[in-house]
Amino acid sequence: ELDNNTQKPHIVCVPFPAQGHVNPFMQLSKLLHYNGFHITFVNTEFNHRRWVKSLGPDYVKGLPDFQFETIPDGLPYSDIDATQDIPVLCDATKKQCYEPFKELIKKLNSSNEVPPVSYIIADGTMGFAGKVAKEFGIADLQLWTASASGFVGYLQYDELVRRGILPFKDENFSSDGTLDTSLDWISGMNDIRLRDLPSFIRVTNLDDIMFNFLGSEAQNCLKSSSIIINTFQELDSEVLKVLMSKNPNIYPIGPLHLLGRHFPNKSFKTNGSSFWENDPKCIQWLDQWEPSSVIYVNYGSTTVMTKDHLNEFAWGLANSNLPFLWIMRTDLVRNEENIGLAQEFLDEVKDRGYITSWCIQEQVLAHPSIGVFLTHCGWNSTIEGISEGVPMIGWPFFAEQQTNCRYISKTWGIGDAINEDVKREEVTKLVKDMIKGERGKEIRQKCLEWKKKAIEATDVGGSSYNNFCRLINEALHYDA
Ligand code: UDX
Repeated sequence: ELDNNTQKPHIVCVPFPAQGHVNPFMQLSKLLHYNGFHITFVNTEFNHRRWVKSLGPDYVKGLPDFQFETIPDGLPYSDIDATQDIPVLCDATKKQCYEPFKELIKKLNSSNEVPPVSYIIADGTMGFAGKVAKEFGIADLQLWTASASGFVGYLQYDELVRRGILPFKDENFSSDGTLDTSLDWISGMNDIRLRDLPSFIRVTNLDDIMFNFLGSEAQNCLKSSSIIINTFQELDSEVLKVLMSKNPNIYPIGPLHLLGRHFPNKSFKTNGSSFWENDPKCIQWLDQWEPSSVIYVNYGSTTVMTKDHLNEFAWGLANSNLPFLWIMRTDLVRNEENIGLAQEFLDEVKDRGYITSWCIQEQVLAHPSIGVFLTHCGWNSTIEGISEGVPMIGWPFFAEQQTNCRYISKTWGIGDAINEDVKREEVTKLVKDMIKGERGKEIRQKCLEWKKKAIEATDVGGSSYNNFCRLINEALHYDA
């Protein structure tokens, strides 16, 4: 067994340490493992400890040819229930991960138990890993885990400065026109306003951490020898054309979780890669409702909001009289210890609202009772929603979620957007239109068309399936 293990080509996978990055990395790693590669999955120590709690110690033991390694994320040691500050984390990974990662590669390369490292697949926002790869003469590839349109958006950051649009002159971001100014000079993007570009443009100072981090990581990622993206050709043809004109080795192989159906990885007991504990009861709760009748509300792993906005959402849902499943992380409300929903609201919705802190989203979206997905438009949530043909209502928080929301409502026609300063009347109206109204019928039709295309792309001979074969044969030089 060990002999066989030491002969497999060895890929080291390095996700950015957040849920929306680790999930697609785990999906890709499992696909590659199934196809004959030895995998080392690199976690941060913090996230590894979280997995021990959410998925159990057996999970992190891995398999003989699928192993987990850890590096520090550069932040001070903290309790696993603590919330990591994203800008601080970006800054820390950029400055602190290079050395420990280099040591890890040295260790792996001098070990007799694992094959020497042949490839490093780095997250598009973990540029240090590509740098280490080059120093060791190891082939490096990138997985861009966010959307293709977001990628093109980040690539405009320099141009926005050159054009004098950035930095904004006041905190309302309204100095030179407003965020509603439409942009007609970005090739591959139509019907885009300043407010739809990845949110880190909203700065009055060009020293901003996130503005610089994403602007430079995206440019750096573009220079990689091969870039894997979790989308499919048919969905993102325009922006992919732009990216391919800058780098011919782009591999759109998504939706990754749909591609996974060809390669069922039975060796893993747990399906997901969640950092929070799943509440399995929510699926049973969904069973009681009619098809396409339930509102599913989930803002992903990092969104935070004010107590006022939370209240508007709560009463907007309550006033619709429709059933809803609402996933609320305990740290959803900014600067508050507890979510603190009003008892009056809880009494009002007790027979038709299920509120819990984490679910297996893929299972929820696949449940026939789900009629609409109220989402922050994180890329994974978006592509998972598309895969299940579920209409969406977008309330983007940050990053390229703003861009994804625009594509959901305008480019693909599979949902609507909610105002940033959300009000309960709007929530009620949008969810009712989507579940009961003509709007919902129209959009659901579009959603089913995209769902069909997503499945076709990942069928044998489909665009993503073929790109995955190409990735293995060309970029990973492997004759499986
Ligand atoms: C985001 C987005 O990936 C990205 O677009 C942006 O650039 C920054 O980070 P996140 O906010 O976590 O990440 O959202 P999303 O991309 O939707 O990822 C969340 C993942 O967790 C999804 O795969 C979703 O299925 C899963 N999830 C979320 C659950 O399994 N259960 C939950 O209750 C919530």
